[in-house]
Amino acid sequence: MDRYVVFGNPIGHSKSPMIHKLFAEQTGQSLDYSTLLAPLDDFSGCAKAFFVQGRGANVTVPFKEDAYRLANSLTARAERAGAVNTLSKLADGSLLGDNTDGAGLVRDLTVNAGFSLTGKRILLLGAGGAVRGALEPLLAEKPASVIIANRTVDKAELLAELFCDLGPVSASGFDWLREPVDVIINATSASLTGDVPPIAPSLIEPGQTLCYDMMYGKEPTAFCRWASEHGAGVVMDGLGMLAEQAAEAFFLWRGVRPDTAPVLAELRRYYPGWIINTNEQLADVAVTGNYRLDQPLDVVRSLAHITSARLQEFPALVILN
Ligand code: ATR
Repeated sequence: MDRYVVFGNPIGHSKSPMIHKLFAEQTGQSLDYSTLLAPLDDFSGCAKAFFVQGRGANVTVPFKEDAYRLANSLTARAERAGAVNTLSKLADGSLLGDNTDGAGLVRDLTVNAGFSLTGKRILLLGAGGAVRGALEPLLAEKPASVIIANRTVDKAELLAELFCDLGPVSASGFDWLREPVDVIINATSASLTGDVPPIAPSLIEPGQTLCYDMMYGKEPTAFCRWASEHGAGVVMDGLGMLAEQAAEAFFLWRGVRPDTAPVLAELRRYYPGWIINTNEQLADVAVTGNYRLDQPLDVVRSLAHITSARLQEFPALVILN
């Protein structure tokens, strides 16, 4: 059977094996996908040993740059990202490195949430690997502007320079910004410690701005809470991005694109998180109080003017007023 793994350290809690198992069942593909704990000081040796037999791998923290260096060839987006999250063994035995993280983010926003990024003002928080991976796919959507804001402004400036040939991208400090934007994407690791980057709440246009945290968890992240408290129109965590980057990798390996909706529904059982929409469509729900939309759909539907199709997309949507 074709073998795939996800490399990481730590890797024990990865949901990737579950995601790819569900994709394989759904598409009738026969494959084996498991976790592989690589030693911190020898990713390369571990990966080479795996690829004697293995067909493909995902790569997560802290090995994405190592995978970038290991790959014999790179896709354009991985080259730009400077990091690889997907390795494929080609027919000649060489390794192709790709980066599907940014594409996963864009697909979660544009397809799952149905939110067009074209002509929008986007604020990206952070200037690490996550932002670097997201920039090319975001700029390909032709936004009006992308501002990279970071604690260490130099790093934001460096990224803006690296990507300015692809679109209108600029750098900023967190506290230089006041005017509302259409989208705020948190790609800092601040949520890991329960922190929120110190940006002005006036950046949120109440009822309008979409706030997205690349992180996800059993509880809403600090950034999601902050965005909700300041009246963001839509608040999403990064679970959809996780499912979408996996689907993109699966497509690369198997040539079949799985449907992420049922897989995301399964993931939401582990990471309820939330997606909040306090715009008019859901205003009835928002004022009624706290509802978890993984409760009987009929109950929820009677509370809000939302289509059942939209509910299927976000089966465990959590709405707080
Ligand atoms: P990743 O690969 O996930 O992007 P990274 O490359 O280590 O991780 O980058 C982490 C990002 O989160 C950086 O932009 C970092 O800011 P600095 O460049 O100033 O270090 C940002 N970050 C981490 N903790 C933060 C916090 N508490 N507040 C604001 N930004 C934070």
